[in-house]
Amino acid sequence: MHFHRLSAIVAQLWFLISVTRKLCVAEMYDNHVTLRQTLLKNYDPLVIPTKTGSGTVSVSMVMYMQNVQRFDESAHTLSSLVSWDIYWKDAHLSWNETEYNGVSSLHMKASTVWMPDISIINALEDQWLDWEDDILQVWSSGDVMWILSEN
Ligand SMILES: *[C@@H]1O[C@H](CO)[C@@H](O)[C@H](O)[C@H]1NC(C)=O
Repeated sequence: MHFHRLSAIVAQLWFLISVTRKLCVAEMYDNHVTLRQTLLKNYDPLVIPTKTGSGTVSVSMVMYMQNVQRFDESAHTLSSLVSWDIYWKDAHLSWNETEYNGVSSLHMKASTVWMPDISIINALEDQWLDWEDDILQVWSSGDVMWILSEN
């Protein structure tokens, strides 16, 4: 008897918790959509993202060698999977977290915002890396992170 009631309560609680979680996810999702739309309104990807629209943007790059695939001694080649973490600050992509329910970071499509003019070539396959479909992470401070890697 008791056991049955307990399991019914547990089931109800579980239902409540999952409904609440779904509501939270939906709310966060709405915040992200609104924020992204607000940031991209009047955004011009061709304008350098400093406060004044001129000057320079510092771009930092960190290279990670994920693993060495092949080392060919006679051809003097080293094949490996490499990825780059690329950072800069976009003065037009900052927001007040309080006004967006505490949203502190956001994903944005690389093709919708200013991107540093960096091209990386895979020398062994003579192939430029495509980045148009890459997703960037943007923080409320305007800090942007782009992870560039071969897929
Ligand atoms: C962020 O927004 C809140 C609420 O509108 C405001 O009280 C606060 O001063 C703002 N912070 C900054 C840094 O503008």
